[in-house]
Amino acid sequence: MKKITKAVFPVAGLGSRFLPATKASPKEMMPVVDKPLIQYAVEEAVAAGITDMVFITGRNKRAIEDHFDKAYELEAELAAHNKDELLSLVQEVIPSHINCIYIRQSEPLGLGHAVLCARPVIQDEPFAVILADDLMDGYPPIIKQMTDVFRQHQCSVLAVQDVPRLKTRQYGIVGSVPLTNDLEQVNAIVEKPKPEDAPSTIAVVGRYILTPRIFDYLEKVQAGTGGEIQLTDGIAALMQEEKMLAYRFKGTRYDCGSKQGYLQAQVAFGLMHPELCAEFAAYLNSLSLDDCCRGA
Ligand code: G1P
Repeated sequence: MKKITKAVFPVAGLGSRFLPATKASPKEMMPVVDKPLIQYAVEEAVAAGITDMVFITGRNKRAIEDHFDKAYELEAELAAHNKDELLSLVQEVIPSHINCIYIRQSEPLGLGHAVLCARPVIQDEPFAVILADDLMDGYPPIIKQMTDVFRQHQCSVLAVQDVPRLKTRQYGIVGSVPLTNDLEQVNAIVEKPKPEDAPSTIAVVGRYILTPRIFDYLEKVQAGTGGEIQLTDGIAALMQEEKMLAYRFKGTRYDCGSKQGYLQAQVAFGLMHPELCAEFAAYLNSLSLDDCCRGA
């Protein structure tokens, strides 16, 4: 029986939807309240017992490596001023038993290509793929829910949720047969179909458990939607050979790749933050609709 110990974080994207904020710093470093998106993603993996974090990086992404590295000067400074709480916050960004591995994707050829770049590290093991701009709130953490499904079924698992038909163009969309309340057997998957062509309104969100056989297919996949090597196309080929499950996760997804989702995440996580929630809730309550669209 195989166990998931490795997660791939494709972080080479340009983050163009958040320019100019992402002109010189990675979109995965954008904070929600007080933690960058990539840290939430790594914490989710750690909570699922994953120990090897494989980041597929690109230009302008050094801040991610620095974030998960020891910060000597900062730590010395905080220690010298007896700022113990802040010091632990900084030191606990990554637990000591976790390995961070960085692979550079020299050309932005698509999500499928990014995942393929992880092959030399993943080799012959099933693994998780986590897209940090899909911020997930759920208990157990979503990747833990999925590794539990994997443990039971020993096959690839895609996190899915229902979306409005008009939005199918933003997602990989599956065709499937329900097995239980939260599991579907996938029999088709299409990247960003037009609403009228979509096989369903069940969308893949940024969490995957994949078997290593996916790499053989990603090697062969030709550029698809948007001229990119799509993970979805590799999954479509893998599905012909191996069982593939879609899992309706328990929790909430914030699409932090969009401004709307990012703002919603700030509000939701602000309202959950132990130090901020009461005052922030009072502030939100005090807002009136007159404050809306000023300057629009
Ligand atoms: C990627 C995948 C898509 C998936 C989505 C989830 O698209 O290609 O299949 O549904 O993530 O967030 P992107 O959002 O990177 O365009």
